[in-house]
Amino acid sequence: MSTATNNLSQEFHPSMAPAPYSVEEVRRDFPILHQQVHGHPLVYLDNAATSQKPRAVIDAISRYYESGNANIHRGVHFLSEHATEEHEAARRIVQRFLNAADKREIIFVRSATEGINLVAQTYGRKHVAAGDEVLISAMEHHSNIVPWQILCEEKGAKLRVIPINDRGELQMDELPKLLTLRTKILAMTHVSNALGTIVPLRKVVEIAHQHKVPVIVDGAQAAPHIGIDVRDLDADFYALSGHKVYGPTGIGVLYGKLALLEAMPPYQGGGDMIRSVTFEKTLYNDLPYKFEAGTPNIGGAIGLGAAIDYIERLGIDNIAAHEHDLLIYATESLLAIDGVHIIGTAADKAAVISFVIDGIHPHDIGTILDREGIAVRTGHHCAQPVMQRFRIPATARASFALYNTREEIDALVKGIQKVKEVFA
Ligand code: ALA
Repeated sequence: MSTATNNLSQEFHPSMAPAPYSVEEVRRDFPILHQQVHGHPLVYLDNAATSQKPRAVIDAISRYYESGNANIHRGVHFLSEHATEEHEAARRIVQRFLNAADKREIIFVRSATEGINLVAQTYGRKHVAAGDEVLISAMEHHSNIVPWQILCEEKGAKLRVIPINDRGELQMDELPKLLTLRTKILAMTHVSNALGTIVPLRKVVEIAHQHKVPVIVDGAQAAPHIGIDVRDLDADFYALSGHKVYGPTGIGVLYGKLALLEAMPPYQGGGDMIRSVTFEKTLYNDLPYKFEAGTPNIGGAIGLGAAIDYIERLGIDNIAAHEHDLLIYATESLLAIDGVHIIGTAADKAAVISFVIDGIHPHDIGTILDREGIAVRTGHHCAQPVMQRFRIPATARASFALYNTREEIDALVKGIQKVKEVFA
């Protein structure tokens, strides 16, 4: 276990001034935040697990089901055409959000997890053979480990892992050594859900491409916090989940470069992904529909579009600046408490703080904080290898969003004092 000092980069994006939006006004957009839990005002600090939804998203979903519900691409009737338009409008919003070159590069999936599984089961199955290697990092979420293990097991390939240092940063010097002639894919998180580390992705992609290795990025934790430009990053694939960017659950996005997607076999068979079917031969639909078998989550896509619109109205750089202020304030506040240690002290971090307290199990921390109305996540955060790396069973994790305040961090600090009193 490493004991943290605050080595967070105080330099940040150009816009690192206090939030240029009113947090109090923004909080009014989120109905769920205004409730009492166990007799205390809710302090929701579990945003890395899922973020809360603004009224604009709730309304967009309700509107669709109240007045716009129909299946898409099939009907010629008014409602079907309208639903199709809205679904495709959401795709264009995602395209803009990621700065993808073409809307055919945006595949709607269930979640970031499904996006990664899609790539493993299509691109991976086609390109990975016995003796080949798939490279990941030591800070991956299980969803960017297990799909590759399944693939490697099936193909007789080997999973290799880029180590991280005691601060939870990628050991960049190891990367070129681990990229061999047998490496067929590099799968890498953009932001670690358990540590908060922001990976220097552009550099990682550049090095991988020098070795002709394509890169798939798990962007689930990055998308709510930092601006993503897939063309600038030159990522080959980029997956994200709707519910972490203030959208609904059950909708996610896989971005892929057009040429790669064109050459990939389909993932699932069914409706919408075919051009024609006979018992002798089936022809597949064009992109992006080739990868969207079955009736999609139409309401989910519309909700995601509304969520991205909401983010863009506030400005992702403004959100990042606000959250960075919270991160610095929370880091300093927590480090001032005797016995508290932060796990994950990278210089470049998103607003996620994993911590442990001497002699107190994280589950007990979470339970006592809950009695104070404070929601944090405790456990291994679906990143057990990270816990193994730091030789701890679990952490408590506070993760911040665009609507959190310094007062809520003060409440967390008071809550932690209470935890310590209970266990004194
Ligand atoms: N992957 C989500 C988290 O980190 C659920 O909490």
